[in-house]
Amino acid sequence: MELGRRELLVTGTLVAAAAATTPSLAQTQTPRAADGRPPPTDAPYQGGTQVRKLSIINAAELEKEAEKIIPAGGFGYISSGAGSGWTMRENSAAYERVQIEPQALSGVSKVDLSVTILGSKLSMPIMMAPCGSHGLAHVEKEVGTARAVAAVGTLMLTSTQANNSMEEIAAANPGPKWFQLYMPADRGFARELILRAKAAGYTAIAPTVDNVVNFPRETNIRNNFGVPVSLGKGNAPRGVADTATAIAMLRDRKVDISWDDLAWIKQETGLPVIVKGVLSPVTAAACVRHGVDAVYVSNHGGRSFDGAPATFTSLPRIADAVQGRVPIIVDGGIRRGTDVFKALALGADVVAVGRPVLYGLALGGHLGAQSVFEYLRDNLATVMVLAGTPDIKSITKEYLAPMAIA
Ligand SMILES: Cc1cc2nc3c(=O)[nH]c(=O)nc-3n(C[C@H](O)[C@H](O)[C@H](O)COP(=O)(O)O)c2cc1C
Repeated sequence: MELGRRELLVTGTLVAAAAATTPSLAQTQTPRAADGRPPPTDAPYQGGTQVRKLSIINAAELEKEAEKIIPAGGFGYISSGAGSGWTMRENSAAYERVQIEPQALSGVSKVDLSVTILGSKLSMPIMMAPCGSHGLAHVEKEVGTARAVAAVGTLMLTSTQANNSMEEIAAANPGPKWFQLYMPADRGFARELILRAKAAGYTAIAPTVDNVVNFPRETNIRNNFGVPVSLGKGNAPRGVADTATAIAMLRDRKVDISWDDLAWIKQETGLPVIVKGVLSPVTAAACVRHGVDAVYVSNHGGRSFDGAPATFTSLPRIADAVQGRVPIIVDGGIRRGTDVFKALALGADVVAVGRPVLYGLALGGHLGAQSVFEYLRDNLATVMVLAGTPDIKSITKEYLAPMAIA
């Protein structure tokens, strides 16, 4: 008897029965990548439709506003984390335990926020984290977010699980772009994805290495919510006519993704490889040894492994391990200019933001998403003037109160 993980979770008697009849199950079973996830639904779905600039006082508060317009299942999907949500909450809480020590009389009145990473020049050290299914937020989907990113001159990391195709997203954003890869179990499909990305103008591939099996997301299970098929799966395998098979191939990830896979991606595409989902200095040092081009510190916004540390907590040790040999990107819980400043001070080169941009998109389409980037950018500029740092490279841990980082 083979039991799905969802059945094991919801039915205590099934757990007992499984333990009694198949004692070796627990030791030998590798959870399948699809376990614990309610399947995609056929139900009709519509995200936000308004297109407007937002006047943002506080990016964290966008969530409450977005909840009013995003359908309940979609809102739960975006806003929740894995398990109890501890890691998700800790991502933001960790920033509150560290203080910026401003250096007055620095003579700084103007600041330069621009930064270059892997050859891409960005107007600010704040980029769009790869998020699947922007259609849950707004009818403009990823194309809306791409337009916002292009308008502010930063970078979007496009998800394998986008509703629009990577080509449509690239067409909406003439600026720098990278492609996030959920490594498919099917090698031919993996090759198709990375070569498509290269052909569409993406200049780096970022395999996500943390979310290889699914830590239960209790909100989605409770809502029995899977992303509706009607929103589209723009990166589904070409030449697979049957939708169910195409979706299954997208969901079927290579659980034992390895250094060999990273080398293969690089060899196939010749593009830089960014490892997304690093939380340990040991993994970060190994990334450098294996020729990875950038380390992306992430716990998937607390959606992948509840109980893992906040990214901000792991960041200083990872920066120590990397020693500036490759750039570091960090995401998770970044909601204010002060958060961005603190992450840069502890060794990040660029930060990425997920949920706030999706909420901005929900509330105002591309203009709403643009407002979120502008809010964070302006907020960071104010923090930099007050702290006394004229440009991004001058933001160091000298500007953090020592007690907090001891
Ligand atoms: C709705 C949603 C979908 C996501 N989809 C992906 C994805 O397809 N690939 C991936 O690597 N990370 C994905 N993530 C994680 C983000 O890349 C990022 O790590 C996280 O959102 C950062 O935390 P924040 O939302 O607190 O800013 C997703 C996050 C959200 C909220």
